[in-house]
Amino acid sequence: MMQMKNSTLRIAPSLLSADFARLGEEVTAVIEAGADLIHFDVMDNHYVPNLTVGPLVCQAIQRYATVPIDVHLMVKPVDALIPMFAEAGASIISFHPEASEHVDRTVRLISASGCKAGLVLNPATPLQVLDHVLDQLDLVLLMSVNPGFGGQSFIESVLPKIEAVRRRIDATGREIWLEIDGGVKADNAERIAAAGADTLVAGSAVFGGGRYREAIASIRSRALAGRQAGAVA
Ligand code: DX5
Ligand code: ZN
Repeated sequence: MMQMKNSTLRIAPSLLSADFARLGEEVTAVIEAGADLIHFDVMDNHYVPNLTVGPLVCQAIQRYATVPIDVHLMVKPVDALIPMFAEAGASIISFHPEASEHVDRTVRLISASGCKAGLVLNPATPLQVLDHVLDQLDLVLLMSVNPGFGGQSFIESVLPKIEAVRRRIDATGREIWLEIDGGVKADNAERIAAAGADTLVAGSAVFGGGRYREAIASIRSRALAGRQAGAVA
């Protein structure tokens, strides 16, 4: 049963680096190029120093999104937006514990809205935030940059953190996805997957070069190689 949890590797292109004037076409193009999820970054110029899109835009892309929409909330407070994103077509909703006064309540709200629930840990957020809530989560999202902007460099100290979260997840015996977000490229996908990640967000690495299919395929093949290396280690 343990091997089933690692049977899938998901690549989640982040729309943050897409052409916002052609968002529907970009969603279609990236799905045709092999995207497993659409990563949708929501920023509020309060929890993070940037401002992006809300439920209206999620709803607008919903008819193009034939794969699950993975909503990453970088907003404070979060609770009021959860039913709105669920209504707008989100399949997964993740939030940062620092942005909620009541983390347990927010997780339950996401689940009650019919979505998979994820908790996001910034590079400096300790793993203890998972202590009393991991059993209720469907996903742990580890930030490998400080949230707010696309195109930043991967923070290497997150690699041992991925390994530690992988151990915690495996100890639960439940299927909980382990997603990595920030600075993911083909060049580091091998090490990220070897450390135990199963879901890789990539914004600039997918949309930056214009060749979506090649970009997704190279991240995926390097990650699959890393997973094999990790399984042997
Ligand atoms: C950053 C966002 C990321 C971002 C990743 O706060 O959460 O999803 O789009 O972009 P890259 O892959 O370019 O680092
Ligand atoms: Zn994100």
